[in-house]
Amino acid sequence: MVGRQLSKAGLRILIQVSNRRNLAKVEIRVQQFPGIHVLRKARHAEIPGWRIMDRIEKTLNEIDKYCLAKELPSIGQEKAKIIKKIIQEKRPKTALEVGTLVGYSAILIASAMPEGGKLITLEFDKKSAEIAKNNVSKAGFENKIWIIIGDAKKTLPNLKEEFDLVFIDANKTEYLAYLKLAEPKMRRKAVVIADNVKLFGNEMQDYLDYVRKSGKYESKTIEAALFSGSRKYAENSQDNMDAIEVSVKK
Ligand SMILES: C[S@@+](CC[C@H](N)C(=O)[O-])C[C@H]1O[C@@H](n2cnc3c(N)ncnc32)[C@H](O)[C@@H]1O
Repeated sequence: MVGRQLSKAGLRILIQVSNRRNLAKVEIRVQQFPGIHVLRKARHAEIPGWRIMDRIEKTLNEIDKYCLAKELPSIGQEKAKIIKKIIQEKRPKTALEVGTLVGYSAILIASAMPEGGKLITLEFDKKSAEIAKNNVSKAGFENKIWIIIGDAKKTLPNLKEEFDLVFIDANKTEYLAYLKLAEPKMRRKAVVIADNVKLFGNEMQDYLDYVRKSGKYESKTIEAALFSGSRKYAENSQDNMDAIEVSVKK
């Protein structure tokens, strides 16, 4: 290649070709494809589906790395896939999360919720909540995710919203307390997802008995390996097993 030049009109490449007798210079002009042009424009504009999706994935990847470095327990990719599918099927208008940490699951849940949906997430650690807030704006979800700082047992009763979906991932011994406080605000057929039900089954036996045996819920357990973001938590597959409990209010 002799040279190349990139201009607004496209790419101009100059190459030399030769056989034994002749030497020729060939100029190749690659005109900008209309599709590529549109795509470049789309990345600079707020066109739904392009830039927004980039921001969400980028932010989730950043949180994932942060959680790995600090050894923080976010739900991780395997459970994230299962939860995302449930949300895409259920299409909740309003959702509640107990236990924000730095916002991984909140951003994931919000990304699967329909346009106009609202997620309220509760976190009592101020520093985590501040980091989560920053991550929420990086993902572009300032109008979709509301973080409330304080003990969920105190902040939850003050909420005025009604919920189609509840995700519980805070203090493992308090799951039943959170559920009982959320229950009056849950719509019929609301879905409750509880994390770590295998790993911390003993700590939340009262919760599991309630959703499985009270007759108020249709409940099932879905096994999923324990990840922090994209990395397995424990190398030993036995230590790595966990589950989520998915309970549908009757
Ligand atoms: C396992 S982490 C949540 C992880 C997060 N759901 C994710 O996957 O990205 C649990 C969080 O719950 C918070 N937490 C524990 N008890 C709480 C309570 N009573 N009220 C509000 N937040 C609580 C902790 O501070 C911690 O940040």
